[in-house]
Amino acid sequence: MKKKITNSAEETKNLGYEIGLLLKEEHHVVILLDGEMGSGKTTLTQGIARGLGIEQIVNSPTYTILKKYDSKDKRRTLYHLDLYRLSEVGSDFDLEEYIDGQGLVVVEWPFKVEEFLPNDYLIIKIKKITDSKREFLFDCVGYPCKRAVEYI
Ligand SMILES: Nc1ncnc2c1ncn2[C@@H]1O[C@H](COP(=O)(O)OP(=O)(O)OP(=O)(O)O)[C@@H](O)[C@H]1O
Ligand SMILES: [Mg+2]
Repeated sequence: MKKKITNSAEETKNLGYEIGLLLKEEHHVVILLDGEMGSGKTTLTQGIARGLGIEQIVNSPTYTILKKYDSKDKRRTLYHLDLYRLSEVGSDFDLEEYIDGQGLVVVEWPFKVEEFLPNDYLIIKIKKITDSKREFLFDCVGYPCKRAVEYI
C-alpha cells in the first residue's frame, strides 16, 4: 500500500495537487477520505481541486453536505461531499446520483452513513501523527487506480 507523509498543510495541498493532476483525465473517480477531525481531509481536497484546474476556494461543505466546483475550462467537475451531518439533515439526498455519475467525487466521512459505499473507489486513510505531521495511506478498491497511485 502506498504511503505518504506530509509535514505541513501546504505539503498536504501539494500532495492533493499531484492527485488532482493524475486523475484529471479520468471520467469518474470516487475518492473516500477517512480520517479524524482536523486530520486534513479538506486541506487535501483543496489541493485536488487546484490539480483539476479549479480556481474557486474550496472549503468545508459540512453544513451543505455537497458542493460542486467546475474547472475554469469547464471540462472538470469536483463534487465535494461531507457526510458528517447527513443523518441529521435527512436522507432525501440521492448519493447514488453522485457516486455513479461523472466527475471526481471526494467524500469526507464516508462511513457515517451505512448505505453509502460505491463499489469502486480510491480510499485515502489519513492519520494525525503530530500537530503538523500527517500520514496518508492509499488503497484502490475495485477501481483500477493502482497505476495512478504509483505515481503519487
Ligand atoms: N500536514 C498537515 N496536513 C494537513 N493539515 C495540517 C497539517 N499540519 C497541520 N494542519 C492543520 O490541520 C488542519 C486540518 O484541517 P482540515 O479542515 O483539512 O481537516 P478535516 O479532516 O477536513 O477536518 P473535519 O473532519 O473537521 O472536516 C488545518 O488547520 C491545517 O492547517
Ligand atoms: Mg473537512
